[in-house]
Amino acid sequence: MGALDGKIAVVTGAGRGIGHDIAMTFAREGAKVVVNDLGGDVDGEGGSKIADAVVDEIKAAGGEAVANYDTVATVEGGRGIFQTAIDSFGGLDILVNNAGILRDRTIYNMEEEDWDAVIAVHLRGHYCCTRPFAQYIRQTNRAGCRILNFSSVSGLYGNFGQTNYGAAKSGIAGFSRVLALELAKYGATVNTISPGASTRMTIDLRKARGREVDVDSPEQSPQQIAEVVTWLASDASHDINAQIIDVMEGWVGIMQQPAVIKSFTVDGMWTLNDLDKALPALMEARREHDEYVKEKGAPQPLK
Ligand SMILES: NC(=O)c1ccc[n+]([C@@H]2O[C@H](COP(=O)([O-])OP(=O)(O)OC[C@H]3O[C@@H](n4cnc5c(N)ncnc54)[C@H](O)[C@@H]3O)[C@@H](O)[C@H]2O)c1
Repeated sequence: MGALDGKIAVVTGAGRGIGHDIAMTFAREGAKVVVNDLGGDVDGEGGSKIADAVVDEIKAAGGEAVANYDTVATVEGGRGIFQTAIDSFGGLDILVNNAGILRDRTIYNMEEEDWDAVIAVHLRGHYCCTRPFAQYIRQTNRAGCRILNFSSVSGLYGNFGQTNYGAAKSGIAGFSRVLALELAKYGATVNTISPGASTRMTIDLRKARGREVDVDSPEQSPQQIAEVVTWLASDASHDINAQIIDVMEGWVGIMQQPAVIKSFTVDGMWTLNDLDKALPALMEARREHDEYVKEKGAPQPLK
């Protein structure tokens, strides 16, 4: 028995990296998989049929898969990807919005095309691939559907030189929160992954920071993310919704969501004098909260 027996899944950007391992693991667990990838460079230029090789790999391992080369960044592409699942396998249960590109520049050098390309693949890509699936879930009342979206520490904490990528990845977290509310009525769940793995997207950065690269280690392998995504795609995760799951460096964690951690009121309108007192006290509360969360969030052995 596989954890995804009878399920049909779309994995975008599944030609390599994290998406590849998710597609392989889904197939290992019994899902029929649409392997979407346009096979471009890390900056989104170019294209190739790398999805075919992943399909062959899945079939060689005894699984079922079909390739799709549409871009996630257009409405037609999103529809094409969805339609491939319907035409090839007769339905859809799981969508993994994993495809991604990078065009890192500081804001001083961030040209319009670098901004637009990254927003298009990540943020718009989530919309383009999700909408046909969401409409289908509502029309068919298909039970137990899952959407897994891909954010990043860049969008959730911030990372130098990535205003385009950070904005898109932060937007994906917001998109996911609202989507989870809208789909809850149909029993579908929407969760967000904040991943970390050694792939072509991160290996050079890792090296530049003087860190070792060992793609097969449990701390760096995309496979660690694939296992978590597979669990979240399965029926076992039915009561986990609208969460951000952090998977990197060998740990799996849950992220806090935006929340007010301390607040004050006054009678009447705020004055600048009141705020001279309130804002430093709020900053102090923030520091205490950060310390508390840092301690609580440190990885612990699973018992
Ligand atoms: N690797 C990490 O540590 C890390 C960290 C944070 C977030 N992420 C996110 O995880 C996801 C996977 O990243 P990865 O590291 O495996 O990268 P990767 O470059 O190895 O794989 C991404 C894949 O997406 C495909 N792709 C790009 N644009 C596409 C488009 N328009 N349509 C269809 N496919 C397209 C690429 O061809 C590529 O095969 C991305 O969303 C990335 O932003 C990765």
